[in-house]
Amino acid sequence: MSKEMSYSEAIEKASSSLTRFPLIPVRGVPLMNHIADNWDSIWAFCPDPSDLLIATYPKAGLDLLQKMDPPRVIKTHLPFQLVPTGFWKNKCKAIYVARNAKDNLVSYYHFDCMNQTQPEPGPWEGYIHKFMRGELSWGSWYDHVKGYWEEREKKNILYLFYEDMKENPRREVERIMKYLDLSVSDEVISQIVELTSFKKMKENPMANYSFIPAPVFDQSISPFMRKGEVGDWKNHFTPQQSKMFDEDYEKQMKDAKIPFRTLI
Ligand code: A3P
Repeated sequence: MSKEMSYSEAIEKASSSLTRFPLIPVRGVPLMNHIADNWDSIWAFCPDPSDLLIATYPKAGLDLLQKMDPPRVIKTHLPFQLVPTGFWKNKCKAIYVARNAKDNLVSYYHFDCMNQTQPEPGPWEGYIHKFMRGELSWGSWYDHVKGYWEEREKKNILYLFYEDMKENPRREVERIMKYLDLSVSDEVISQIVELTSFKKMKENPMANYSFIPAPVFDQSISPFMRKGEVGDWKNHFTPQQSKMFDEDYEKQMKDAKIPFRTLI
């Protein structure tokens, strides 16, 4: 991965000559240019069988395992078909976190407004259509959630929902521990639940991205740890937008019965 620009290098570059990066398609998926430019080395990445992959569509939340000691925890927003095949050949464990489309879209919109390295989001009304057409960075939400869903049994992927984590974080942490064959005390589980709560992570400089310079993440526009709620979409979609979105959703998701909970 020698040629690859690291995230911190990309941030430094963005800070010095601030620009909203264009998206470049890789096998039809629009990706930020520092990823597209280094695609060959990313695709060739060979993980260790002990590595754990955590995959989400952007703004589906919860980097909770990222800071653990090795084996490495590798986080990606790549859609299933672009995940380097070494992960599956080496039978790495993988956790996917999915969030309902409308809340995911709202969160992504606020993020694109504050993240000065992302393409200009434009007005909210048009942004909804970009999301529906899969034009945002990392591609179609619909293809993303379906791609991992369809492969979850064959590839032994633990498929989690943001809404379940919000509803009962302890239950979901226990599921993760079971999947990872880890046995930890109730007290440790309680600590994990406490430390990964929205309130704690919002205050934690390692989780709230306050270390990213303001010209890159302008948190006065929208904080990175914004609301962390289920159902915030109701504060953004008009009834007409919601109806139009739902009709399109039915079409795009008709072949997948993924039990999302949009209304809570
Ligand atoms: P909102 O914009 O709805 O607040 P990502 O980490 O993939 O960038 O996703 C960020 C979204 O997940 C934000 O959503 C953020 O608040 C939410 N999030 C991150 N950590 C969370 C936590 N511990 N509890 C609840 N929501 C969390």
